[in-house]
Amino acid sequence: MSSLSDLEIEIRACKKCKLFEARKNAVPGEGNPHAKLMFIGEAPGLNEDIQGRPFVGAAGKLLDKMIHDVLGLERKDVFITNVVKCRPPNNRDPMPEEISACSPYLVSQIRLINPQLIVTLGRHSTGFLFTYSGVDFPGITKVRGKPHTLRIGRLEIKVFPTYHPAAALYNPNLRETIRDDFVRIRSEINSNSYT
Ligand code: URA
Repeated sequence: MSSLSDLEIEIRACKKCKLFEARKNAVPGEGNPHAKLMFIGEAPGLNEDIQGRPFVGAAGKLLDKMIHDVLGLERKDVFITNVVKCRPPNNRDPMPEEISACSPYLVSQIRLINPQLIVTLGRHSTGFLFTYSGVDFPGITKVRGKPHTLRIGRLEIKVFPTYHPAAALYNPNLRETIRDDFVRIRSEINSNSYT
């Protein structure tokens, strides 16, 4: 079984789908390798592609703020990654074949980190984990705002879906919904003494 740093090296050199052709950097993810809390987004955007780090643009600023203000944590306390590790051109949705090629990296990261709670950001990461676990995915609106216990390989992990922070940049009402979800995530963390 490879380590997180072996995986990072592999991801940075990956050519398993066509997204490697236009990328500047693959974005493996970052944070605490022993994190109890893991965040999974969709795919890198422009800023992430330039820096090789996840959630460093406007959506990332909002995510950092929620993690800090609502959960009382810092980025270094959690692990942040994406389903797809390279930027799709013009930030289009990742294609099913890109998700299939890339998602084994995510599954390995989950297995190695073994977090107590995964927060999925948006429909792509949520849909992937539901489908991977063999659970019907009726859409982000139906499943968000509460924890679901999913079997990911040999692990049973609580997965808490919320909207993607980028959606809140265009729709300010969603910002409140995401904040409410983070308040629920805080209760979930407190009631299970994650440290
Ligand atoms: N959106 C994502 O889903 N992931 C990032 O890393 C940045 C923006």
